[in-house]
Amino acid sequence: MIRTGIVGLGFMGKMHFRCYQALEGVQVAAICDIDETKFENTSGTAGNIAGAEAPLDFTGIGLYTDFDKMLAEANLDAISITLPTYLHKDHTVKALGAGLNVLCEKPMALTVEDGRAMQAAAEKSGRLLQIGHCIRFWPEYAKTKELIDSGQYGKIRAAMFQRLSLTPGWAWDGWLMDPARSGSAAVDLHIHDSDYVQYVFGMPKAVFSRTARGPSNDADHIVTQYVYEEDCVVTAEGGWAMSPTFGFEMSFNIVLEKATIVYDCTRSPAFKVCPVEGDAFTPEVASGDGYSNEIAHFVKAVRGESVPQIITPGQSVDSVRLVLAEKHSARSGEKVSL
Ligand SMILES: NC(=O)c1ccc[n+]([C@@H]2O[C@H](COP(=O)([O-])OP(=O)(O)OC[C@H]3O[C@@H](n4cnc5c(N)ncnc54)[C@H](O)[C@@H]3O)[C@@H](O)[C@H]2O)c1
Repeated sequence: MIRTGIVGLGFMGKMHFRCYQALEGVQVAAICDIDETKFENTSGTAGNIAGAEAPLDFTGIGLYTDFDKMLAEANLDAISITLPTYLHKDHTVKALGAGLNVLCEKPMALTVEDGRAMQAAAEKSGRLLQIGHCIRFWPEYAKTKELIDSGQYGKIRAAMFQRLSLTPGWAWDGWLMDPARSGSAAVDLHIHDSDYVQYVFGMPKAVFSRTARGPSNDADHIVTQYVYEEDCVVTAEGGWAMSPTFGFEMSFNIVLEKATIVYDCTRSPAFKVCPVEGDAFTPEVASGDGYSNEIAHFVKAVRGESVPQIITPGQSVDSVRLVLAEKHSARSGEKVSL
């Protein structure tokens, strides 16, 4: 039995808890949050993607408000770090130093330097460090990567990604609306698509971005062109300045030589392959969602089972590098090389 812990029982901490509970061979043995009222009020998962709404049952689980105490007492094999982003580095380095395998939420960190320190700590400890780039595990996005890599639909001509959200007002202490603690929408939300662009097409040669200010008075809405050697156009748009009734939408259109692949979480069917010849169809995809699949992957890897390499610490550092280059481009008005 793998004994896992969770630090930060907000939107994502609860999500990780539910995902671990649904798996065999893993037990949530301890949870830490500085706000002990979080242990009492466990129903309802706020956030921009609906989670299960049933109250959580913490019977038999060690509940802590002190992270060091949890590390010293709880005898854990692994931990989910679901804290606000500015706390990722210190907690990850400490947990790895205590011999734990770590699943840390995305973005890995707010700076490349902190990301590299986390990567170095994982290498030194010999333990696993997986960053929660759940879109790599999202069934339709994972299938799309598989279809592109198979080469059956030819080369990429154009790809457009979108991720748009109402303003997230639910965060603890308003940390998401503080650019110094969250990096604003460009770093917090849009990184999902920057990371997927990197995953599917590799690191671009350069980026060119424009941003708009919104509720955090920083990069609350961003549009980026990712520049590649090949003759193709890749863009992504992300933002959390949408009005409350808009909710949340994620989508893409990928134009290949022999097919267009489309996904839009608000449509039915959400996912379609439209070949140049023949009828459009919806491919079979894995069950679950990106959260449950990334957590199942992490647990298997902790158990020592063989798993495909889907996300590495080095790629997670590169995703931070990518979104920071995008912000830099928007500030300078120039194309930024990577
Ligand atoms: N993968 C995704 O799709 C996704 C979605 C949302 C958030 N996230 C990421 O997950 C992380 C957490 O975001 P969230 O929305 O759950 O935040 P949140 O504000 O909902 O929750 C943060 C929790 O951390 C606790 N906390 C704060 N400081 C602490 C400390 N020093 N020790 C222990 N607990 C502490 C707070 O009390 C709160 O319960 C962020 O990095 C965010 O970017 C990822």
